[in-house]
Amino acid sequence: MLFSSFLPFVTVCVSAVGAYRPAARAPHHIPKNNCKVIPGDRKWPGVPEWNALNKTVGGRLIRGTPVAQVCYGPNADATKCSDLQSSWGVVDHFLNNPVAVIPPYWDNNTCHPFVPLGTDVSSCGIGNLAVYAINVSDAATVAAGMKFARQKNIRLVIKNTGHDFLGGSQGLGSLALWTHNLKDIKFLNYTSATYNGPAVKIGAGVQFKELSRLAEARGLRVVGGSCPTVGANGGWRQGGGHGPLVSAHGLGADQTLEMEVVTADGKLRKISPTKDADLFYALNGGGAGNWAVVLSSTIKAHQDGPIAGSILFFDNTHDDTYWAAVEAWTRHLPALNSIPGFASEIFITQDVFALDMATWPGATEAQMIEALTPFYNSIKELNITITKNETAVQRSYVEHYNTYVGSDQIFTRNLTIGGRLIPRSFVEEGSLVSNLTSSIRSMFESSPNTTIYYLGYNASLPAGVTSQTNAIFPAWRESLFLINLVTWSDPMTPWNTLKDSLATINNWQQTLRELTPGGGGYINEGTFDEDTWKEDYFGGTYEKLARIKKKYDPEHLLYVKPGVRADEWVQLGDGRLCKV
Ligand SMILES: Cc1cc2nc3c(=O)[nH]c(=O)nc-3n(C[C@H](O)[C@H](O)[C@H](O)COP(=O)(O)OP(=O)(O)OC[C@H]3O[C@@H](n4cnc5c(N)ncnc54)[C@H](O)[C@@H]3O)c2cc1C
Ligand SMILES: *[C@@H]1O[C@H](CO)[C@@H](O)[C@H](O)[C@H]1NC(C)=O
Ligand SMILES: *[C@@H]1O[C@H](CO)[C@@H](O)[C@H](O)[C@H]1NC(C)=O
Ligand SMILES: *[C@@H]1O[C@H](CO)[C@@H](O)[C@H](O)[C@H]1NC(C)=O
Ligand SMILES: *[C@@H]1O[C@H](CO)[C@@H](O)[C@H](O)[C@H]1NC(C)=O
Ligand SMILES: *[C@@H]1O[C@H](CO)[C@@H](O)[C@H](O)[C@H]1NC(C)=O
Ligand SMILES: *[C@@H]1O[C@H](CO)[C@@H](O)[C@H](O)[C@H]1NC(C)=O
Ligand SMILES: *[C@@H]1O[C@H](CO)[C@@H](O)[C@H](O)[C@H]1NC(C)=O
Ligand SMILES: *[C@@H]1O[C@H](CO)[C@@H](O)[C@H](O)[C@H]1NC(C)=O
Ligand SMILES: *[C@@H]1O[C@H](CO)[C@@H](O)[C@H](O)[C@H]1NC(C)=O
Ligand SMILES: *[C@@H]1O[C@H](CO)[C@@H](O)[C@H](O)[C@H]1NC(C)=O
Repeated sequence: MLFSSFLPFVTVCVSAVGAYRPAARAPHHIPKNNCKVIPGDRKWPGVPEWNALNKTVGGRLIRGTPVAQVCYGPNADATKCSDLQSSWGVVDHFLNNPVAVIPPYWDNNTCHPFVPLGTDVSSCGIGNLAVYAINVSDAATVAAGMKFARQKNIRLVIKNTGHDFLGGSQGLGSLALWTHNLKDIKFLNYTSATYNGPAVKIGAGVQFKELSRLAEARGLRVVGGSCPTVGANGGWRQGGGHGPLVSAHGLGADQTLEMEVVTADGKLRKISPTKDADLFYALNGGGAGNWAVVLSSTIKAHQDGPIAGSILFFDNTHDDTYWAAVEAWTRHLPALNSIPGFASEIFITQDVFALDMATWPGATEAQMIEALTPFYNSIKELNITITKNETAVQRSYVEHYNTYVGSDQIFTRNLTIGGRLIPRSFVEEGSLVSNLTSSIRSMFESSPNTTIYYLGYNASLPAGVTSQTNAIFPAWRESLFLINLVTWSDPMTPWNTLKDSLATINNWQQTLRELTPGGGGYINEGTFDEDTWKEDYFGGTYEKLARIKKKYDPEHLLYVKPGVRADEWVQLGDGRLCKV
């Protein structure tokens, strides 16, 4: 959803103090050999070894430096540092750095810009970020990084844009494979047993903002996220990938036709639903960063054309009337989602109810208004005063997107997120819908600084895709909408407070879970430490995925939490990763 500053409201391209959850116990029985080597250890590679790796990768090894290092040391840069100070809550600075990550939880204030210019650089630590990164250019540079990490027993991570809320794009004492510069984009016509039509081959580093306009110029559109900065070909697709075009064309994972990947054995493979189909299955919906390193994907492109959009706002009056209107929206969603191609995003804050984007490819303005009329009637019956209500048709997806999201939006990193996929049957059956409304209401009453999104998609199987093609699990296919629970906090918030926010979100997820048995969570916008992660993020696909993990990465070179088989590892108090 949108974590931007759209209109006067903050929205999220994207989610109180709850039960304290103790960190994983440091199991004293773990032999040191089971653990990754970290800086300071006798076995941590010395400069000659890093230099040798650098030679192998053609000089593409980079020493990790935190973004805010420009504020430290004798070479501190006053202009850059003050720029960072004024925009520390914004995602942009973190995208182009080989190791830096967006979520403040993982960044953990290790090195920040709010210091006197020129402060001793020793107080700007690398923290959880990768110590070195390889600027990936091809399969050989990936394979060299894998080999080095295996031989030296150090942690390996993959960093693309650094959006990952779960912390998968960083790791204490790690070597990063930085895929951001794989920017090739090539349009083609694709033919296979299941798809015949326009397609585009994109490098692993391509971001939606770089792809959408190029597609538009060819009369095409591609399924993308709500945030232009998210990678088109990294964690978004591997974890599922949602955005305004999901109802029209399927989830991100449903778009993939083939991929070029490097597996943990260093081998370059071209995979598809017919070649290494199990790996293809896992890499499309089975969770990010856990299977292989993606170099490129060939994805479907779709005929572009006019798209109807709509927005509607009214104030949060903090009374039963307001919450009745929220519930009316929920009850209208089954009808809206049964319209082919229709998708919606609403958000609720302490100030407003906002339908901030309805998306309906091919519809007219009159059709859009007609579709929303049952909801209009409900809110009219409630005597609610509308503050904004506009419907329009744009000529292309990009124009539609720019109308509702904006082409130059500022996206913020100041959030903690979680959520729940709400089954269609839950709303159709209907008896617990009021319980959902009152649960959401009580979340606001306990934590006013919250935004809750309802992302309404029909994410059922698109033509040519089956439950064997990719790992998108039934909870997604059978969902009516995705709830994102977001709490806001300044990125300088102390880590313990962010941890409390996460505990709150986990408690809220648990509340929604109890209401919606058989629902699930969206891993990319979930929490890393949820107890019921296997069921919630993978559903019935877990056992199959666990076998695929064993087959393609038997030594578990690629570790992410909550990834499949992550419970075979534990992170000790000092952040060191050990095999249990
Ligand atoms: C501001 C914001 C807005 C968002 N909006 C949306 C949205 O609209 N829709 C949605 O579905 N999600 C959204 N998300 C969630 C997003 O999908 C995930 O954070 C996703 O993991 C980001 O992928 P990335 O490659 O850009 O980021 P990274 O953090 O660089 O990578 C994410 C994960 O993917 C792995 N990975 C990255 N590249 C590769 C590769 N080449 N090969 C193998 N593994 C790789 C990494 O190891 C990591 O585990 C949003 C997140 C943020 C912070
Ligand atoms: C790797 O080599 C290149 C070119 O030789 C050099 O510029 C770079 O600083 C080296 N990287 C590291 C980490 O030493
Ligand atoms: C995010 O944090 C920045 C930096 O501290 C702050 O200026 C900004 O107001 C915050 N924005 C939101 C939406 O919380
Ligand atoms: C964040 O830093 C604090 C110390 O300042 C440390 O106790 C905590 O473990 C760190 N958390 C993470 C996730 O790095
Ligand atoms: C990474 O490699 C690309 C070329 O593939 C180059 O343009 C870029 O400058 C490199 N980045 C860094 C930080 O070395
Ligand atoms: C794909 O085929 C269409 C129709 O034949 C053609 O117009 C288009 O140029 C082709 N695209 C590419 C990239 O070859
Ligand atoms: C969702 O879309 C599919 C087509 O992709 C359609 O077959 C299905 O009926 C739709 N679901 C509902 C509930 O309308
Ligand atoms: C929103 O505007 C449309 C016309 O653009 C109108 O038909 C509809 O009744 C309005 N809805 C509400 C709730 O005011
Ligand atoms: C709405 O206003 C009308 C007329 O003033 C009134 O009869 C009705 O009870 C109100 N409805 C609600 C839900 O307040
Ligand atoms: C739903 O709400 C009703 C009425 O408040 C309550 O009696 C019931 O226990 C709730 N059910 C669940 C599953 O929370
Ligand atoms: C909500 O969080 C934002 C982001 O940090 C902060 O700027 C704002 O002051 C907070 N508002 C309240 C009411 O706590």
